[in-house]
Amino acid sequence: MSKPNLQIALDHSDLPSALKDVKNVGDIVDILEVGTILLLQVGDEAVKCVRAMYPNKKIVADTKCADAGGTVAENVRKAGADWMTCICSATIPTMKAANNEIDEIQIELYGDWTYEHAQQWLDAGISQAIYHQSRDALLAGETWGEKDLKRVQKLIEMGFRVSVTGGLDVDTLKLFKGMPIYTFISGRGITAAKNPRLAAEQFQKELIRLWGE
Ligand code: 5RP
Repeated sequence: MSKPNLQIALDHSDLPSALKDVKNVGDIVDILEVGTILLLQVGDEAVKCVRAMYPNKKIVADTKCADAGGTVAENVRKAGADWMTCICSATIPTMKAANNEIDEIQIELYGDWTYEHAQQWLDAGISQAIYHQSRDALLAGETWGEKDLKRVQKLIEMGFRVSVTGGLDVDTLKLFKGMPIYTFISGRGITAAKNPRLAAEQFQKELIRLWGE
């Protein structure tokens, strides 16, 4: 089973602090995400800056796009993103339009969605999904547990490459041991750490311990 990727989510509210963190850990993580919060504050300038710093890394624009998929995808692709996200409640035409304009889209699983919807995404040629514990659900007391593992496993069995995110820390990773998770996405687990570089290294070390090189 391959080692899951580690993705950093840059959810900063200003560009200088996002760039400082990505400069610090960009060589350690596998994928760079320009997070929704940063995109809303700064726009595609954030993607352009991260691309200029890391010409060869995979970059995700976490647009959580709900409409105008083709236009949003074209814009973030031109800024330098490889992938972007669409919210799971977007229509299939929105998802398809985005998928036609960029290398790949990822479906962000928030709120209500069903496995029937998931099959429609696969039928539309979309095979990446992001399983979330949202910030607000975590704040309301939600935790990672068996129910999440079951849903993630089912999505993997359906044929998705599944990324997992939401309040992850190094200790959370072992919950998923034995599962072929595509990517773990961490924002605050790295950027809010006292030493973000050390935190990113510890994530990678634990991924190697649990999944191998
Ligand atoms: C929130 C997101 C975040 O980027 C992602 O969940 C990582 O956040 P954190 O690790 O800080 O909880 O997509 O909608």
